[in-house]
Amino acid sequence: MDTVGVVGAGQMGAGIAQVSAQAGYRVLLSDMNLARAEAGKAGIAKQLDRAVTKEKITAEARDAALALIEPVESVAAMGPAFLVIEAATEREEIKRAIFAEVGKVLSQHAVLASNTSSIPITRLAQAAPDAGRFVGVHFFNPVPVMGLIELIRGLATSDATVATVEAYAGRLGKQVVRANDAPGFIVNRVLMPMLNEACFALGEGVATIRDIDLACQLGLNHPMGPLTLADFIGLDTCLEITRVLFEGTGDPKFRPAPVLVKYVEAGWFGRKTGRGFYDYSGPEPVPTR
Ligand code: 3HC
Repeated sequence: MDTVGVVGAGQMGAGIAQVSAQAGYRVLLSDMNLARAEAGKAGIAKQLDRAVTKEKITAEARDAALALIEPVESVAAMGPAFLVIEAATEREEIKRAIFAEVGKVLSQHAVLASNTSSIPITRLAQAAPDAGRFVGVHFFNPVPVMGLIELIRGLATSDATVATVEAYAGRLGKQVVRANDAPGFIVNRVLMPMLNEACFALGEGVATIRDIDLACQLGLNHPMGPLTLADFIGLDTCLEITRVLFEGTGDPKFRPAPVLVKYVEAGWFGRKTGRGFYDYSGPEPVPTR
């Protein structure tokens, strides 16, 4: 059976494991320890239960997908995988350490992919067991809903590696776009300046949080306003990616907005910390200014 390894059972890793299993792949899911991998699987079970309640999938399809997901103790178990996708914390040293461990067990023709949203693929490939079999696969949050995968080729990524990932993405029903290994790839290169600009607008008193979001949501027909989306992604992540754009291009147009920096310094990262531009402690998010 086709086996995919997913390293990292957080929001992105769990989403990737879920859609892979729903596409019929056997999934080996790891995290820092077995308990975290099992918690990731429990979260997937909840998502699938909701989908059954909404009659989007049958109870049989839920059970079949869950049966395909095996939480494992560590990446040492990933030998059978033809594709290992790393979706761990967005810190280069953590990813490099994972690649070294995966390198000990990755089978001869298997591909190692990173779901990094901002670290250059060619640089990450330095730590991969084989740069030819290393590639970026950038999923979007929430993974089960978003139809896109950005495929980022490092300088040494082989054609066979690209073909493997395209076939996998096709089976998931996701569209693939190919991006060069440039800061932010495509989506974040375009998205982050918009979110950052909304932070500048807020800081300069152009409008309130509510009005900036409502204006973009209704005026541009976006599903979420930019400040809501920034909270959803995580303000720490938005700042990190904006800094990659700024440092990677040297272009001052990408400089982070002071408001964004301040919120991150305050530990107000958005939904995941219960407060960002909105306060999430009540039944509905409330703008904080
Ligand atoms: N997992 C699975 N399904 C989910 C979900 C989740 N976490 N969140 C929402 N959904 C599904 C719901 O079940 C619902 O499905 P249905 O219409 O078939 O019943 C559908 O999505 C709509 O959800 P809701 O009605 O609850 O809420 P909304 O209509 O407000 O939609 C949203 C929620 C899909 C998150 C929508 O607001 C949206 O698309 N927002 C923008 C998301 C976005 O831009 N993501 C990209 C971020 S950038 C990124 O990921 C890159 C990274 O590098 C930073």
